[in-house]
Amino acid sequence: MVRKKMMAANWKMYKNVAETREFFREFLPLVAGHERDEIVVCPPYVDVPAAVESVKASQVAIGAQDVHWKDEGAFTGEISPRMLADVGCTHVIVGHSERRQYFGETDDSVNLKLKAALGHGLTPIVCVGEVLEEREAGLTEDVLRRQCARAFHAISAKKAAKLVIAYEPVWAIGTGKTATPEMASEAHVLIRGEAAKVFGEDFAQQLRILYGGSVKPENAKALMAEPEIDGALVGGASLAVKSFVAIVKY
Ligand code: PGA
Repeated sequence: MVRKKMMAANWKMYKNVAETREFFREFLPLVAGHERDEIVVCPPYVDVPAAVESVKASQVAIGAQDVHWKDEGAFTGEISPRMLADVGCTHVIVGHSERRQYFGETDDSVNLKLKAALGHGLTPIVCVGEVLEEREAGLTEDVLRRQCARAFHAISAKKAAKLVIAYEPVWAIGTGKTATPEMASEAHVLIRGEAAKVFGEDFAQQLRILYGGSVKPENAKALMAEPEIDGALVGGASLAVKSFVAIVKY
């Protein structure tokens, strides 16, 4: 089973509109004609329209970093999946560990957001991963199983067709510590197994599971060489054109 890799940038709370346009002005010519991998950039909400406009004539897709589960309502500060689709967003990160750690994201809200994103035809990138204490206590498998089971709850394989997962060990995010390709692979096998339980073996074989956590130009090649790793979700190293291009072209 050949799965097209997805190289996704998570800009977090970096770059304004002018910086977004400048990034794409430099970035797009360097990835012109690059079809081997799917390229997705997820800027802050307010930069999304400028990003969508910038990539119009290219193969690059734009995603958001979060989404609410309702179409509209009295939810101050939130953005709905309908609004994202309307401005030309095609992808969305759901359940990033920073949302879970700092903003009260739970397995249940991840499930609601995942359903809403799929319902609006968005490609969700659902993040799962253990924190350091969990890994050290030998709880990695339990945590990944729980996060997957609760995220996938009450979703049919048909509805989930566009699902993408990102395995992001929290201790590797922004720390310069990467999981070894073997450690990541082990986690990916487990996640694929959980997906198979819920959605079936065929679905699981097609499911793309990205690795995230200190992906850099220096380690991208070794990580992407693992058959279980179907791409990368890149934070810090996606902010500079040069390093993100190097990762995309690993
Ligand atoms: P990092 O972030 O590449 O800076 O470690 C990855 C992420 O949080 O998605």
